[in-house]
Amino acid sequence: MGISGVKAIIFDVYGTLFDVHSVIEKCEELYPGHGQQISELWRTKQLDYAFIRHIIGRYRPFDEITRNALQYACEQLGVSLTKENEQELLQAYLKLAPYEEVPQALKQLAGSYQLAVLSNGSPSMLHPLVEYHQFNPYFSQVITVDDVKQYKPSPAAYNYALEQLDCRREEILFLSSNTWDITGAASFGFQTAWVNRKHAVFDYMGQKPNQIISNLDELVRLLEGK
Ligand code: 2OP
Repeated sequence: MGISGVKAIIFDVYGTLFDVHSVIEKCEELYPGHGQQISELWRTKQLDYAFIRHIIGRYRPFDEITRNALQYACEQLGVSLTKENEQELLQAYLKLAPYEEVPQALKQLAGSYQLAVLSNGSPSMLHPLVEYHQFNPYFSQVITVDDVKQYKPSPAAYNYALEQLDCRREEILFLSSNTWDITGAASFGFQTAWVNRKHAVFDYMGQKPNQIISNLDELVRLLEGK
């Protein structure tokens, strides 16, 4: 399909700019032999909880959901989550590592486009993370669905982001590594680029991304027409 007439770029946060599994090291340090499993189950349940809470109309902020998902993961894997460990792991989430190419790519893109993030993350998670990596100067807005209490991929979440930017929806390019997020954004009417870092398969839900890229460097090259 391709991308054209882009004025602003909106990025998803977790899994797209930042590697949620960069907590594996901390999980492994606290629970030797279980690091990867904890991290994977933690992320899976975090998303499940957000989607289910949205559907049943019982919104809770993402920081609470993230804590609950960690509690579930530890209990399911039979390891004891002390208050200290819980605190340490939740703190690690505020310093997740960005994917390698992200800082330089954001810097380059910010020179030509308005950039923003739209995340299910609550303000208490998002702002410290963006500030820790000194990404604030690149973004005109750090948008959280917590303002409207509607999780992505609901149309209301993308519409809230649209309202924050001085653009028409088709002038916005939305980037995510999460297929459900691309499905939601494409269905809403944003142009989309799926960041497929791990050779995954796209979902069969009637939507397709305008573009598939393997990292943000590829987006920079694409927009520069190289
Ligand atoms: C986000 O950052 C949860 O990855 C999702 O909105």
